[in-house]
Amino acid sequence: MKLSVIGCGYLGAVHAAAMASIGHEVVGIDVDRRKIAALSGGEAPFFEPGLPEILADGIASGRLTFTTDMAAAAGAAVHFIAVGTPQQKDGNAADLTFVNAAVDALLPHLRPGDVVAGKSTVPVGTSADLAPRIEATGATLVWNPEFLREGWALQDTIDPDRIVVGVASGAAGERAADVLREVYHPAVARSIPFLVTDRPTAELVKVAANAFLATKISFINAMAEIAEVTGADVTQLADAIGHDARIGRRFLGAGIGFGGGCLPKDIRAFSARAEELGRGESVAFLREVDAINLRRRERAVQLVVAALGGTVFEKRVTVLGAAFKPHSDDIRDSPGLDVATQLRGLGALVTVTDPAAIDNARRTHPQLGFVTDRDEALTGADAVIVVTEWDEYRRELSPAHAAGLVAGRIVVDGRNCLDAAAWRAAGWEYYGMGRP
Ligand code: UDX
Repeated sequence: MKLSVIGCGYLGAVHAAAMASIGHEVVGIDVDRRKIAALSGGEAPFFEPGLPEILADGIASGRLTFTTDMAAAAGAAVHFIAVGTPQQKDGNAADLTFVNAAVDALLPHLRPGDVVAGKSTVPVGTSADLAPRIEATGATLVWNPEFLREGWALQDTIDPDRIVVGVASGAAGERAADVLREVYHPAVARSIPFLVTDRPTAELVKVAANAFLATKISFINAMAEIAEVTGADVTQLADAIGHDARIGRRFLGAGIGFGGGCLPKDIRAFSARAEELGRGESVAFLREVDAINLRRRERAVQLVVAALGGTVFEKRVTVLGAAFKPHSDDIRDSPGLDVATQLRGLGALVTVTDPAAIDNARRTHPQLGFVTDRDEALTGADAVIVVTEWDEYRRELSPAHAAGLVAGRIVVDGRNCLDAAAWRAAGWEYYGMGRP
């Protein structure tokens, strides 16, 4: 099938390349010339395992092209809207400027029978606002949310847990759902659940899923706060409750909490939308979820301060990690960089290292010190804090080796990812999050 993907950021670039890899002819369109030049040359503008390979394959096969010219969308059977919906600068709601601009630019190129598939994460009700303009051209609007995780984006796109397509009732909606079944034919053939809903439900599925995940993380972080005043160990607690299949162990990792380009902004936008709908109280708990999450960053800072005897002033603190999570170079709302910034604000001499995210972090946090080499970053440190659970720190960093580099054997494990016993055995003072 011929497909267009409008917006070539994380979501769009991955979607375009993944759709070409399953045999479609795809044009990716974006207003950012530099991004399009990079993608056309087979270069991924961000770190995502496997993406460079499928970009190169797609381009070599001739099935994948990128352009800034919206006219290239003409003739595609399905147009995916994959632009960003960031948090508004002066509020919590989602900024729909890019969605509206993409739809306006696309309108002149739509033909009767085309399907426009919204993938961006939007406030519930957005498709009802967009539909009249799109459907006046004879095209059909569906909402097809995306659940991809950074670092696993290709797998999540090609082999998702489920596919959700929200359609308007009636023949055009049913036909559009069939068109999307054809787009995702390999997954449909493998019997991956394909759920056809109405459009508001599809919009809500995405924000509800992210709100649930954020709540799960903040729940265990709240338990960490209780553990801290009772001597309990939150990781054992998570293991024990996680054995209950109704609860499940995943996303019960206590630590410095969630960040990234999705969970924080999505829960805030959800609260803002619920307020607009007169149902603010229904998701009032999301404000607590956000507050717990932000408190854990402060807690990590307090642990470093306490471990260093009550002040970090002119103490050398090495921060292991900058990305908001491993397998990513994304530093948007990175809890670790926030911790690093807070420590610097208290007068610490902060050195940050990360296997992938240093270039991005340096651009947004020029006040912090950055060192590419892990061992160089550790050398002479008075305290070390792990903020991103990269394998480079979790598995590959031997506590005995690290002990030989630092000036003070103090380690704060902001992700509860280190083997506490092994670090203590190597002479370290080990502090976890919600662990004795
Ligand atoms: C998330 C959703 O998982 C995905 O389905 C959606 O499409 C986009 O938002 P992503 O932002 O890539 O994906 O990251 P995710 O893996 O969900 O992690 C989010 C944050 O939560 C990270 O900062 C991570 O470190 C943190 N986290 C995750 C925890 O603190 N504890 C956990 O147990 C799990």
